[in-house]
Amino acid sequence: MGGTRGRMAKGRATTPKTVALATMKGGSGKSTLAVCLAAAWAGAGERVTLIDGDRQRSVTRWRAAGEALATIPLVETDPHGVPEAVRLALADGATRVVVDTPGFRAAGMEDALSRADAILVPLKPSPVDFEVAADTVELITGLSHPPPHRFLLTQSVRDSVVARHMRSEMIAAGYTLLVAEMLHRVVYPEAALMGATPMTTAPRGGAARDIEAIRAEVDALLANPV
Ligand SMILES: Nc1ncnc2c1ncn2[C@@H]1O[C@H](COP(=O)(O)OP(=O)(O)OP(=O)(O)O)[C@@H](O)[C@H]1O
Ligand SMILES: [Mg+2]
Repeated sequence: MGGTRGRMAKGRATTPKTVALATMKGGSGKSTLAVCLAAAWAGAGERVTLIDGDRQRSVTRWRAAGEALATIPLVETDPHGVPEAVRLALADGATRVVVDTPGFRAAGMEDALSRADAILVPLKPSPVDFEVAADTVELITGLSHPPPHRFLLTQSVRDSVVARHMRSEMIAAGYTLLVAEMLHRVVYPEAALMGATPMTTAPRGGAARDIEAIRAEVDALLANPV
């Protein structure tokens, strides 16, 4: 059975997979989604490792601000160090590795994404985010083995005209989006301040539901990558 991490996941055992968050647009919600997805997978019985590949260290600071994420191992590195960090996490028994990356074309971004089984691209419903989407796709499709990627609307207001417009424009332009959205909710920055997650502060709230829907969709993509 190996070392401390080499055991079966509690509750379920899935094929180990690595998911990276990436955009060429800063502030779109990568780090927030990385932390929340990691917590959701841990809650579902996966053995999760977080890799903070962004020198801003948003994920590292979030985890250090409280107790809710203390049981999830975290590796601090830069984009170039991500492939080795992923390799070690998987060798150590992780079943879900979540990689946060810088929000621009940083040196080593290709390295940071090279080991991912899927890439999630959060974007806000705004014209700038729409324009930058093409650059992100160019980065991903330029990888030597591009994994599947999905856009994901974040910080949107439910049923707002701008969010609906953004979704239809993205689809018309040929982009693939998750059905689930990460709506604008103050519980995310609040959770970051407290080192908590919406699943710990408001387990029956809308944010926890959003995250659970995103997790389920990403798991389906990982099980059947297209
Ligand atoms: N769904 C949301 N609702 C409300 N606020 C959010 C949401 N997602 C992110 N935020 C807030 O928006 C800001 C940017 O989010 P975050 O740091 O996750 O983005 P990022 O893409 O990692 O940014 P960077 O490019 O700087 O790394 C943060 O203050 C965060 O708390
Ligand atoms: Mg970030």
